[in-house]
Amino acid sequence: MHILVLNGPNLNMLGIREPEHYGTGTLAELEAMIAREADALGVTVEFFQSNHEGTLVDRIQAAYGRADGILINPAAYTHTSVALLDAVKAVQLPTVEVHISDPDSRDEFRKISYIRQACIATVKGKGFPGYLEGLRILVQHISKA
Ligand code: DQA
Repeated sequence: MHILVLNGPNLNMLGIREPEHYGTGTLAELEAMIAREADALGVTVEFFQSNHEGTLVDRIQAAYGRADGILINPAAYTHTSVALLDAVKAVQLPTVEVHISDPDSRDEFRKISYIRQACIATVKGKGFPGYLEGLRILVQHISKA
């Protein structure tokens, strides 16, 4: 089983950006944690981060026929991007939405998630371990399919 792990804009700044919301760990540390969990679950993962909406759309499209599922933190594009929603719908891959913070308890504009309607689950407000929970949900879902 092969899982694509996507991170959206500004998540390359983890460790520096707003530690009160996102903690002090870096993206490299986050990816290492996910890779260890993937090993334990017996699945392979590939990582991709971009600050660009179209590049993320391209990456989702490229997963068609290559990956079994997607774990995505669309970051700010969660709240704005119909294009990411449509990309996930187009490839029809089981997808889990993850957020480090809980966007629903922050600004009003963070309460909307476009991608959520195409996702099998959302994990939010659990810090980096939320990605591990999201990966487990995804793997269990795909195993049952
Ligand atoms: C985020 C929450 C979003 O509202 C924000 O724009 C991010 C990160 C999170 O992981 O908590 O960039 O997706």
